[in-house]
Amino acid sequence: MPRVTSLPPAPLPPGFIRAGDVLDERLSPAQVRTLDMRYGNEELLYGLGLLDLSGPFYRFSPWELEDEHGTRRINASGYAAVPFGDMPPVITSFLHEFLDKNRAMSLPQQSSSPWRAALQTNLVRLLSRELPSHADSQVFFCSSGTEAIEGALKFAKAWRPKAKHYISFSSGYHGKTLGSLSLTPNPEYQDIFRPLVPGAVTSPYGDLDALAQLVRRLGPDNVVAVVVEPIQGEGGVNIPPPGFLRGVGELCQRYGIVCIADEIQTGLGRTGHWFESAAQGLDPDIVTLAKPLGGGMTAVGATIVRHTIYKKMLGGLSSKRHSNTFGGNALAMAVGLKSLEYLVEQDLPARSARLGEMGLARLRALQEEYPRLFESVRGQGLLLAMQFRPMVGVPLPGPLREIVFEATAILALRELHAAEVMANLSLSSKRTVRLTPALDMPEDLFFTMLGRVGVFAGRNPASRHLLTNTPPAVTARLAKFAASKPKKRTDSDG
Ligand SMILES: Cc1ncc(COP(=O)(O)O)c(C=O)c1O
Repeated sequence: MPRVTSLPPAPLPPGFIRAGDVLDERLSPAQVRTLDMRYGNEELLYGLGLLDLSGPFYRFSPWELEDEHGTRRINASGYAAVPFGDMPPVITSFLHEFLDKNRAMSLPQQSSSPWRAALQTNLVRLLSRELPSHADSQVFFCSSGTEAIEGALKFAKAWRPKAKHYISFSSGYHGKTLGSLSLTPNPEYQDIFRPLVPGAVTSPYGDLDALAQLVRRLGPDNVVAVVVEPIQGEGGVNIPPPGFLRGVGELCQRYGIVCIADEIQTGLGRTGHWFESAAQGLDPDIVTLAKPLGGGMTAVGATIVRHTIYKKMLGGLSSKRHSNTFGGNALAMAVGLKSLEYLVEQDLPARSARLGEMGLARLRALQEEYPRLFESVRGQGLLLAMQFRPMVGVPLPGPLREIVFEATAILALRELHAAEVMANLSLSSKRTVRLTPALDMPEDLFFTMLGRVGVFAGRNPASRHLLTNTPPAVTARLAKFAASKPKKRTDSDG
């Protein structure tokens, strides 16, 4: 191996933080918060801090996190992107081996890579085991869910260049970059960025007749793609009526519209199936994946595309038409490959289905016991949702009602946290909190987690208790925060 001449290290700039100091936990939790707020998303962390939710949190076991006071909580958060818990040994031990032994190029943007080759092979083989029409499909890797959707939209448009419209569904969520945001019909996220990608249209989720009418109205040849979540995750775990997904597929096929199944949240076991779309009788042209593929540790997104559509965008000299720097990098692919292997070997989709069924039964029993807290509970596999009754029972005008709805979920999250369960908000459903535990969470811990949800419900038997159980000083600060304008910095802020 060529020798590297080592020079004495140059002095570090004032305030520069060494990587080793972070690894050795030399930054105190208070310092972490201050720096994260000073140089990052200050307002988000401030809001979470008011609720005592801002961390930092440290791993106690893959499925439990500890705060600075030593309080240990069961982690059912992670937005469905933590399939095996935090720093799961199955991945970390493989990573040690990878770091010791791997010789394959790390960022193989323009050359072949054994890691990328293996992961795309396995993904296509898994998908085509469920949907044989995908036997010759091809994969494009990226580094997030939203980017997988951007790729899907471009593949679809290249296939139908003359068409102008993209259809997505009410309460859907596909990401926050401009293309995916255009198909995420949530005014809170969209409005300030208008005009978005032209031609994006929304149809009511679960209503096949409405979709057919919309397609007729737009003109079938004028529709590039229909983008659908097989179960809506951020929309609050909305399961479509039987036949809806199959019908979406048939409609698309009839008119040659590209059907994109966004399996970023549902795919690879979360809902109890490898691919929820396939389980519901949909054979989409494009499947997007992300979250669990990164093993809860890194970023892997994938767009799986039928061969002919793939070729249309990336054929011949156009093969550079879509690209990125980091997609397919060796480290991400190695994690993805090992994650997929573990999912297969442990048959985690089947485990998710079995545990999820028991979990939902427990949540239903809680709903019966506490009907003034829970408006409904829903779920499939380990994608579970609790929708709460609004904290304020009287009818309120629109904007105020929205604030009360949002506060309901936020305070429920705080109370769950106090009961030592970490949960997720739903980005497009304001009164819904989701539980997305690791697919391999030990059964006793899973039932302890549900027991703690029971404790939470016992402390808040009606949703108004979410408010009355919150210290008035916290409520006052939250109200002030909700009404405030972004903070102005002064020089003394550093
Ligand atoms: C169905 C779905 N699509 C796309 C995304 C966007 O993924 P990311 O946050 O990795 O950009 C999400 C994220 O929650 C999602 O649930």
